[in-house]
Amino acid sequence: MDDISIRQAVPDDAVALNRALGQLSSDMGDAHAASVADIARFCFGPSPVFHALLAEDADGDIVGLAAFSPFFSTVYGSVGMYVSDLWVAEQTRGRKLGQQLLAAVRAFGLEAWNANFIRLGVYHNNPKALAFYERIGFEPTADTQFMTLAGMAYDALGEKQ
Ligand SMILES: CC(C)(COP(=O)(O)OP(=O)(O)OC[C@H]1O[C@@H](n2cnc3c(N)ncnc32)[C@H](O)[C@@H]1OP(=O)(O)O)[C@@H](O)C(=O)NCCC(=O)NCCS
Repeated sequence: MDDISIRQAVPDDAVALNRALGQLSSDMGDAHAASVADIARFCFGPSPVFHALLAEDADGDIVGLAAFSPFFSTVYGSVGMYVSDLWVAEQTRGRKLGQQLLAAVRAFGLEAWNANFIRLGVYHNNPKALAFYERIGFEPTADTQFMTLAGMAYDALGEKQ
């Protein structure tokens, strides 16, 4: 793993970051609506909503990424990091880079906000990733159901003001 280094993404990485995120979407069978302009605005703009760490090989190619956002938990009384995206390039998998990316997220959160936990969502149909997280020590949040408000229901809420 000496040939791969992990660093914080900078504005010049917007294209490569969106390409890597697009590869993750493709690997997951998901749509990918995010544009480079979205990445530039939401990761590097004046009011960023996520942070990104990149794993770069000796040729400067991006072979892994972690995207995350801090949030405050009144239950924990501390900040946690919500990891929205974790991806390692197919040819690099199984070399512990995924684990190192999560360790780098932890270090970033500890330094920036004294964060002391990480939360993320994993698809039920992704047993390999589930096993990967469980081996690190993640536990399912069995008492909570992830809920999403989007589309027409999201718009309709605006009319209830
Ligand atoms: C999940 C993922 C980030 C793990 O990264 P990694 O660098 O391969 O992880 P590590 O080397 O630290 O751990 C390897 C373990 O990850 C798991 N794993 C998950 N998906 C894997 C894959 N496609 N190939 C190899 N291992 C995979 C295996 O349990 C493996 O364990 P093993 O070595 O005993 O077989 C990476 O495999 C990946 O990007 N997968 C596709 C995208 C994805 O599922 N992201 C998570 C979305 S929630």
